Amino acid sequence: MKILVLGSGAREHAIITALLREPGQHDIVAAPGNAGIALVVPVVGIDANDPEAVLEFAHEGDIDLVVVGPEAPLVAGVADALRSRGIPVFGPGREAATLEGSKTFAKRIMAEAGVPTGRAERAGTLEDAVRILDEFGAPYVVKADGLAAGKGVLVTESRDAAIEHSAHWLGHGDVLIEEFLAGQEVSLFLLSDGHTVRPLSPAQDYKRLKDDDEGPNTGGMGAYSPLPWLDERFGSEEAFVDEVIETVALPTIRQLAAEEKPFIGLLYCGLILTDAGIRVIEFNARFGDPETQVVLPRLETPLSDLLFAAASGTLVDQPRPAFTNDVAVTVVIASENYPGTPVVGRVLSGLVEAEAVEGVSLAHAATAVEEGELVATGGRVLSVVATAAGFAEARRRAYEAVDLIGLEGSQHRSDIAAKVAGS
Ligand code: AMP
Ligand code: GLY
Repeated sequence: MKILVLGSGAREHAIITALLREPGQHDIVAAPGNAGIALVVPVVGIDANDPEAVLEFAHEGDIDLVVVGPEAPLVAGVADALRSRGIPVFGPGREAATLEGSKTFAKRIMAEAGVPTGRAERAGTLEDAVRILDEFGAPYVVKADGLAAGKGVLVTESRDAAIEHSAHWLGHGDVLIEEFLAGQEVSLFLLSDGHTVRPLSPAQDYKRLKDDDEGPNTGGMGAYSPLPWLDERFGSEEAFVDEVIETVALPTIRQLAAEEKPFIGLLYCGLILTDAGIRVIEFNARFGDPETQVVLPRLETPLSDLLFAAASGTLVDQPRPAFTNDVAVTVVIASENYPGTPVVGRVLSGLVEAEAVEGVSLAHAATAVEEGELVATGGRVLSVVATAAGFAEARRRAYEAVDLIGLEGSQHRSDIAAKVAGS
């Protein structure tokens, strides 16, 4: 198959790595990619957010399948443009992608579909915001109602901080104030063709910048998969996944289908397991980053079969995806000052040595070659991924590789998968 992958992050690198690992040979091209992706497949400099440019490239290049990595091309209508010309595309159209882009839309769909989620109220003025904050009480959860790259969410014990955050984001639109939900977080990815869903294996993301979940929220500083503690509570991973399919994924997909906004792509369910049951905190309309880097290395079923079946409405013919018993851990290396404006342009070293560690692979997030040197070009720079038979060994491998990588001022968490590894 000729596959075009849109995007330039570690998630896209992980998708391409999974496609290259399949027994069948594919012709893969990435746009725009990054320096790590360019080591394994050709990259083209087209604008992934420009529907016309992507359509023209896919058409002229006889592309069989377009896989959209990030949300921006979805919001720009890239999937709609491709689908209208009969090109199979894995990624929802603009309207269905609103499930990620607008928290208000997501809450409405969940309410209509009877999907369990936290109580939320919308505020358009600071007066409303303060009233709702006081009604809900601490801890406070304030969310900007739009794409804010993870930065629009504040969870805090401080009423003053909650008010300040509301005031800031009210300058950009409404804010949503939510009931605080306590419990373990799970990211579950489901492939959807608009009617049928197929689940991948659950993962846990580490959203805060620093160890012990201190510091600001980020795009994600690390992840692991599978989640052995699900067995204790649900009996098995499969039982948990089935419950999410029945109570969350299928009702949501059906509601969107009924509204003629078919969801064709990856439904990312961000869940909290509260004492009262599973609750949705957010939906995304794409693979999660860094969770993809730990889910796909464990996937045994050819990824291209699943993506193509979702894109072409034939997921019902696909058996449930199979996973190895290996575990995977990823540690994200970020630039100085991330998640604020990152210091970029610094030289990276030690990647060859890191990748030589047994079970380790690297997914590049923001790298480029400048004057013959590999440099960091963004906030999250690399995902160091390690697989092993158990978490203690996977963690050991991941951190051995992390320690071999040089980047001045870089940041990473040292506690990824520590609890589950028993350390
Ligand atoms: P979101 O961007 O909506 O996923 O929020 C980012 C992070 O904030 C989540 O991963 C949670 O850790 C936290 N969070 C969001 N909503 C809530 C909530 N209602 N209760 C507790 N924590 C939340
Ligand atoms: N890791 C969280 C996300 O991809 O949104």
